[in-house]
Amino acid sequence: MTGVTRLIEPVRTAPVTTPTGRVAPRIGWTFVLLTALAIVAYAAVPYFTASLEALSEAPGLAADYVGKPAFVLAALYLHIAGGATALALGALQFWRGLRTRAPRVHRWIGRIYLLGVAVGSLGGLVIAPTSTAGFVGFFGFSTLAVLWLVTGWRAYRAIRRRDVASHQAWMIRNYALTYSAVTLRIWLPLMIFAPLLVGQTPDFDNAYAAVPFVAWLPNLVFAEWLIRRRGLPSYRLPPART
Ligand code: HEM
Repeated sequence: MTGVTRLIEPVRTAPVTTPTGRVAPRIGWTFVLLTALAIVAYAAVPYFTASLEALSEAPGLAADYVGKPAFVLAALYLHIAGGATALALGALQFWRGLRTRAPRVHRWIGRIYLLGVAVGSLGGLVIAPTSTAGFVGFFGFSTLAVLWLVTGWRAYRAIRRRDVASHQAWMIRNYALTYSAVTLRIWLPLMIFAPLLVGQTPDFDNAYAAVPFVAWLPNLVFAEWLIRRRGLPSYRLPPART
């Protein structure tokens, strides 16, 4: 058990049976799948089809990596490959039809997904200290990388014990963190252009200083809400000792 989870105790609420025909969860899942694939295509694939120098001509972070040491570049590419694999595959794992009709496929996708998370988070830990967002980038992205690894490990341990409910809960938390690659790229333009609402000029630096935390903290809160709503093992702080 990690230091974080030792502080909090599990709460099991009554399972919620979701009628198979309900439309809202399907729309939500389709939205998550399509946005995840769009970010893989738009943000990750270009790193494997063009050089950093070529990518630097368009807006983005690629220019910051030109001339960085080889081990930072290796970590960046491993991070992007692992993260993109996890982002593209993760949503499929929440598709009940796949889990029930092809459990072997679910298991194999799960193994590849967790490998992507492991490689992506270790790569992320190496590049976090070089982030454009300075110390905020270092602390925000490093915390995200550690939580990404730990929640993936807890999900794996839970299913090895055949504890399906805990496995689902940890996978919801883990994919909520993976999905921060999407939410970051939604928050960032919103925050860059928000100053226009009060008559000020768009500001990339100010917006980028917030995303290392804003990209994933709301996702975790949403994940915990979803876990409780589905009656899966959730968490609450233990009562204070008197
Ligand atoms: C969830 C844990 C993740 C962590 C901790 C993390 C961390 C980082 C860090 C520290 C950077 C460098 C940012 C900078 O230079 O300021 C970065 C860049 C990048 N990450 Fe991640 N990341 C995560 C997830 C993902 C995922 C799932 C993808 C999949 C698409 C991804 C794709 C990228 C790309 C493409 C870049 C290069 C910068 C850009 O062009 O946007 N990351 N990440």
